[in-house]
Amino acid sequence: MAENGTFEIIDRDGLARIGKFQTPHGMIETPGVMPVVNPNIIVLSANEMKKLGMQALITNSYIIKRTPDLAERALREGVHVLVGFDGPIMTDSGTFQSYVYGGIEYSNVDMLDFQKRIGSDICTILDIFSTPDDGFSRAKYAVEETHKRAKELPDDGTIYAGTIQGSVYPSLRRRSARIMSSSNVKYLPIGGVVPMLESYAYADLVSAMHSAKMNADFSKPVHLFGGGHPMFLALSVLTGVDMFDSASYIKYARDDRVLMQDRTLDLSDVEKMPAWSPLADMYTISELRSLEREEKTKALATHNLFAIFAEIAEIKQRIAEQSLRRYVKEKARSHPYLMDAYKKFLGYRDVSAFESYSRKAPFYYTDAEDSRDPIYWRLRNFCIKEIARSDKQILIVDDALVSPVLSMESGLVRAYENSTAVFVRNWNGIPVPIELWDTYPVQQSILSRSAAKRNIQALLSRLFPRREIIEFDDPAKLSNAEGKRRFDLEKIRMIARYQFSTANSSLIFPDSCSIRTSRKTDRIRTVSYGDDLIATLRASDGFLTFTTAGAKLLEKALPGMKCRVMVSDESRDFNLQGKNVFFKFIIDSDREIVPGNDTLVVDRTGNMIAIGKSTVSGREISYFRRGVAVDVRSGIGQPGD
Ligand code: GUN
Repeated sequence: MAENGTFEIIDRDGLARIGKFQTPHGMIETPGVMPVVNPNIIVLSANEMKKLGMQALITNSYIIKRTPDLAERALREGVHVLVGFDGPIMTDSGTFQSYVYGGIEYSNVDMLDFQKRIGSDICTILDIFSTPDDGFSRAKYAVEETHKRAKELPDDGTIYAGTIQGSVYPSLRRRSARIMSSSNVKYLPIGGVVPMLESYAYADLVSAMHSAKMNADFSKPVHLFGGGHPMFLALSVLTGVDMFDSASYIKYARDDRVLMQDRTLDLSDVEKMPAWSPLADMYTISELRSLEREEKTKALATHNLFAIFAEIAEIKQRIAEQSLRRYVKEKARSHPYLMDAYKKFLGYRDVSAFESYSRKAPFYYTDAEDSRDPIYWRLRNFCIKEIARSDKQILIVDDALVSPVLSMESGLVRAYENSTAVFVRNWNGIPVPIELWDTYPVQQSILSRSAAKRNIQALLSRLFPRREIIEFDDPAKLSNAEGKRRFDLEKIRMIARYQFSTANSSLIFPDSCSIRTSRKTDRIRTVSYGDDLIATLRASDGFLTFTTAGAKLLEKALPGMKCRVMVSDESRDFNLQGKNVFFKFIIDSDREIVPGNDTLVVDRTGNMIAIGKSTVSGREISYFRRGVAVDVRSGIGQPGD
């Protein structure tokens, strides 16, 4: 079993991830929501909540400590017996009460000691709450004082939660995330956000989450204190939040408020409970409305909690499909402030470091908003750079010449091979060189016919005012026919330049390499050099997968640590034999590694020993201590190498 406090990533979609966090009372699968349980007023029992999908809960150690009867029972029997739940329990520290009442009677050390004595699985420090209205210096004090308290934590195996504060100031959120990450805490809640959630200040929240996340330790779960409304969960997960807690399910129930996936309704406005609700088969709407107060609260709390867990299930499914962005885009339409928040998120360019080159799901292009997807602008930047490599004519190829596939036998390919011009096609406003036509997202996309067709002629004229730009619809009319090049070779070289951000693609694929095409589909399948197979072109996403013979060419083409992880001597022999690389054996790595991309494994002396697929981005590698970093395809010490 994993050590307590370790977090393992199972699946990902950009910054969103499905993970497993180990606690003394079992594993928490993320993303997840912990219902807030008030030990004085138990409305739904833990067993009832478990049936709805609960895996972990949060309760307040300050309320327990200051209620003599509860404190005595918790100290005698433990918090798990007190709330009747044998799974993971997180305890909060009284920070919120300290903020509301202007202070509490216990210190940070008192509160942590108490949480440990009652057997909490995740103990929260007594951080200093700051509100969105706090001035900079007050918010700064909250960050520094919270950090001072985090420094009081012993490294005793306890899972401590150390809150990231910083109000609405990105610089403070960034600092708080960095200093809390480097303390002894294993769990990172983002605090001080309840007032933002209550006032629907979602854009401020996205800013707080983003500043915190990009500076937090990626190997630790990030929790949003109080962020459990189904409306806001998907966007939060997209920014990289792993866990939530929610008191809203019960607070709303007391006010006859009903949580839906995209809004909250008054019970009096509900015509019929939706079919997915656990209440749908239990009561008619008039029966539900006329229940006694206690029973009604319990029924609505059941519905509300189920709505939250159903949304989490949907989000996990979207991560597995790698279509979470699309889902968030849909959800953003449900409230104008959510749209503001989503647009703010779309402006963060640094998230592209966490995106793979391709997703399992096709790329949907429905409107201009999709041109702010990192996959879109990564492609756009690359294509413009590629076009700038040459000073020749630019031919804008008419769609009719290529659809649906570009045949190797076609007149267009012959024209290309006889020419030196740059051949591009319009893909949603990007002039994409035709060599990239089978590569994600170009081929693997579904385009709305009604989306405004952006003009690439104007873009090209602006970017390349001195180049001749011609609309090209008839290969027989090619005027520039002085070229002598192979389309298949140029194609794999361009894919390699894209996939490894390198200009050295002729070192990866020398002139004398041989390229085989599938007879059935007319697409490139494999590339060999001499007797050795060096790469295959994946049919699914049009990117390259290298063999160890190919890795030797990559090694020559890519300088220094580029696309590499360096492993310690302990790991070397295993990797030579084709075994996976574990994070703990990595001693150096390239920060620019793209998750899911082919990555070279080198030993301490820099010699290449294996090739595989990186499971995370270069930004994340150094944080993890547990799990597989490179899924090794083959090592150079394996038979046949
Ligand atoms: N509950 C809601 N917000 C907060 C916060 O900022 N800190 C702690 N400890 N608990 C909270």
